[in-house]
Amino acid sequence: MTVYIGTATSRVDGRAKVTGEAKYAGEFSASDLAYGSIVESILAKGRVVRIDTSAASQVEGVLDVLTHGNRPQMASADKAWKDDVAPEDGSPFRPLYDDKVMFSGQPIALVLAEEWEIARYAASLVRVEYEKQEFATNLQKQRDQSFVVKKPDKPHGDAGKAFAAAEVRHEAEYFIPTEHHNPMELFASTVIWDGGGKLTVYDKTQGVQNVQRYLCSVFEKESGDLRVISPFVGGAFGAGLRPQYQVVLAVQGALALKRSVRLVLTRQQMYGLGYRPATIERLALGAKADGTLDAITHEAIAVTSQFEEFSRNDTGWAALLYKSANAKYVHRLARLDVPTSSDMRAPGAATGVYALESAMDELAVALKIDPLELRLRCYSDRDQNEDIPYTSKQLRECYHQGAETFGWKKRKAEPRSMRDGSELVGWGMATGVWEALQVPVASRIVLTANGHAEVSCAASDIGTGTYTILAQVAADTLGLPIDNISVKLGDSTLPQAPVEGGSWMAASAAHAVAMTAEEVRKELLAAAKAIKGSPLADATLEDVVLAGGNIVSRQDASRAVSITGVMRHGAIDRIEKEEANGFSFPSGDSSHARNTHSAVFAEVKIDEQIGIIRVTRVVCAVAAGRILNTKTAHSQVMGGVVWGIGMALHEETVYDHRFGRIMNANIAEYHVPVNADVHDIDVIFVDEPDEIVNPMGIKGLGEIGIVGVAAAIANAVYHATGKRIRDLPITLDKLQRPA
Ligand code: MOS
Repeated sequence: MTVYIGTATSRVDGRAKVTGEAKYAGEFSASDLAYGSIVESILAKGRVVRIDTSAASQVEGVLDVLTHGNRPQMASADKAWKDDVAPEDGSPFRPLYDDKVMFSGQPIALVLAEEWEIARYAASLVRVEYEKQEFATNLQKQRDQSFVVKKPDKPHGDAGKAFAAAEVRHEAEYFIPTEHHNPMELFASTVIWDGGGKLTVYDKTQGVQNVQRYLCSVFEKESGDLRVISPFVGGAFGAGLRPQYQVVLAVQGALALKRSVRLVLTRQQMYGLGYRPATIERLALGAKADGTLDAITHEAIAVTSQFEEFSRNDTGWAALLYKSANAKYVHRLARLDVPTSSDMRAPGAATGVYALESAMDELAVALKIDPLELRLRCYSDRDQNEDIPYTSKQLRECYHQGAETFGWKKRKAEPRSMRDGSELVGWGMATGVWEALQVPVASRIVLTANGHAEVSCAASDIGTGTYTILAQVAADTLGLPIDNISVKLGDSTLPQAPVEGGSWMAASAAHAVAMTAEEVRKELLAAAKAIKGSPLADATLEDVVLAGGNIVSRQDASRAVSITGVMRHGAIDRIEKEEANGFSFPSGDSSHARNTHSAVFAEVKIDEQIGIIRVTRVVCAVAAGRILNTKTAHSQVMGGVVWGIGMALHEETVYDHRFGRIMNANIAEYHVPVNADVHDIDVIFVDEPDEIVNPMGIKGLGEIGIVGVAAAIANAVYHATGKRIRDLPITLDKLQRPA
């Protein structure tokens, strides 16, 4: 029975969030709380020769200053520092471990004080002597030193030869700069010291059990001695997948002082964490005059650090979308003296598909074929990397419904041919694609005799709406009103869940809850059958459902017993069950490709005299399997589109390569879209039943919303102006640069 699943249910945690009752990592307190403040390296590479902490230590209220010279004991093996989602290759960063400086902004000292203001002031008095070394922070200058990483994308045919022989060719290079996540909530950790050496760590993270295992391994602690809690996350977008350095420093502080410590990063310090790597993308597309693709080459060069090899799949998306007999994909990494790059919403796809979909638009121009028509001519019903079908793929319907809603038919093909008063009007489109992953998750349900159920799982709700969808699934599978359900998440002591990311948590956790509810149903049925003269005496598990507060026969609704009645009758105070979803990581069988898709249509209006670009309309039509909650799903996709606007027009982390330092490490100069930049966004969910992907047909949609948006906007800018800007963001100076 689905009363709640599929409806526009408001967030069950909404009230807690708007009233301030919801507490975030930096808001937990303790009577013995001390505060930390970090001193960062101003050097990009070298060695700390001497740290003079004498002036800082003399400030009244300062408790200690930790450096690599006096920090608590930490593990020495690389393996101990590898969290669940650390790159396979490399040696993870260790804060305050030794005298090496590996990037500008690296923490090199931690001041601990009675008050945060005191800690911060004292941190300004710490004097550091460095030994400088040569460094590199410019991707363009290091591209020749890049190396190939192994990727699963399989080449087929001979793309080089086919390209050379193609009737129509398009070849170009695209560039995406480094971008930072900039979640509203600052990265923070509050470590509560219980007196006996046990620690409770409130942390901003996308995975409490990942942080728990990591901290136990780094500080050589028993699992029972350290608990990690993260009930709410004020945005993370991938920045909180790996444990971040502030949590290590906060634990160091607590161990050194033997008291509770809170450490909140400043906005500027957050630019010393992970980021979307700057990436150079080269596309070479060859086609017949009728628009049939014959050759696809996609090469990417992305940034990683000197000490780890982080890479995501930028290339290979073409093989999911477009038929081509010949294709070749190469992913390269360039090492720079910066922190390790990281996941950021739709990692790999946001960047790679921007380049691919820009190139497809340019090919359409060369072919004189409507860009939407070109996508339809090249449409692939198979994943050509693996040569397998999809569990479902309603992308054609996305194109169709998106185009209808947008009014694509009225587009004039010629650039600069559409106007609105003094503004040029451009219409562009692009395709989006992401993965429908699922991971092993367990959940617990405790049903009490008053008809209330508590659902719990270690998963974090990173703002996507996990609390709400799990309440919906529990309410429907237990047949109870949603107000009778409470959901507990984000605590390492709860049933196991990996980090929340990759758009995999909805399918994974919803299924775990449904499996657990099934066990509750079994026990309720057994109790119902035990009632003398029970109307369900002959019923089997398949015969009954939980609905409307009752356990009820599917065949005959009059044969029902109330859930609370059954429990009272059997003198059952509580039914407690824990089940895992049975999924394997990442996605089980490989007989089908599992993907979500979208078609994005964008309108821009451009005042050519001053070069201002406004994205006046976006239509994003998404096929992502079963939509659990049309309201939170809409918000996810809309948020992705807004971010796509930022990627196209605003976002860029700017380095001063003379110093290897970021020049705009703040949200005044690192531009993101504000309300004035965001106009009409229309989100459409295309019906996509899917019985193969998983039993509930859920695909997840935290990430699909951003993919393709930047390309649709860039293509619209070309259509408006006739100028093709291939390096993001498309700012007015680039638009006015002579061609
Ligand atoms: Mo997402 S970039 O997997 O948090």
